[in-house]
Amino acid sequence: MIFEVVTLFPEMFASVTSAGIIGKAQEKGALQVYLTDPRSFSTDKHRSVDDTPYGGGAGMVMRPEPLVAAIEAVEAARGPAHKILLTPTGAPLTQPAVLRLATLPRLMLVCGRYEGMDERVRGFCDEELSIGDYVLTGGELAAMVIVDAVARRLPGVLGNADSAVDESFEAGLLEHPQYTRPALYRGVGVPEALLSGNHGRIRRWRRLQSLLRTRDRRPELFAKLTLSDEDRALLAGEEP
Ligand SMILES: C[S@@+](CC[C@H](N)C(=O)[O-])C[C@H]1O[C@@H](n2cnc3c(N)ncnc32)[C@H](O)[C@@H]1O
Repeated sequence: MIFEVVTLFPEMFASVTSAGIIGKAQEKGALQVYLTDPRSFSTDKHRSVDDTPYGGGAGMVMRPEPLVAAIEAVEAARGPAHKILLTPTGAPLTQPAVLRLATLPRLMLVCGRYEGMDERVRGFCDEELSIGDYVLTGGELAAMVIVDAVARRLPGVLGNADSAVDESFEAGLLEHPQYTRPALYRGVGVPEALLSGNHGRIRRWRRLQSLLRTRDRRPELFAKLTLSDEDRALLAGEEP
């Protein structure tokens, strides 16, 4: 997978691209991150990338010319990409979206700054994504979130291929609680089912905890689930 990031602050990406699982994935060749600064495509003598908004108002708006020139230069140099404009007004990023993006060969993440981008840049992108209902200073952190979430779903990136399968959101559920040693910590023990060594019981306990957590914390996700007979029995407090 190739990630192309169009950003005024390429230096921000060093921490994400060099450390941990993403750093190792790059070393293994599972992914590559290219950074392109739209300021290099500004043609005026001050290399400006922003201007005042038409109609007045606070702040500055990113000009379309350097951004679109950067997008086009990246594609001319390395081939077409699925282009994502990062904006709080975009569709919310979800795990199904992450899985969809992980199937694509080349993603371009276009980061805004200031009050955002000239609206006409949208026409040069394939979709708009938001990482949540809050406003960041720039699109860089949003791009890093997408690189991280997508990269860990690429083949060969996670050490244990199964480790992503049971995670939160994978099957529309939140993950069950996890415990490790010690068995007793500051007076709090580990649920007996997990110590039982009975795989069927452990699986059912985890499933029930996932269902309960999702029902209590994310009722809107729970409402979308199709419950199995076993799920209904677990929720009713019966041992299936
Ligand atoms: C200060 S924000 C602009 C916010 C814009 N004036 C608004 O109210 O929608 C500057 C840039 O940060 C990025 N950004 C901020 N919040 C974001 C979010 N929740 N998801 C994705 N990108 C975000 C976008 O690239 C945006 O162009």
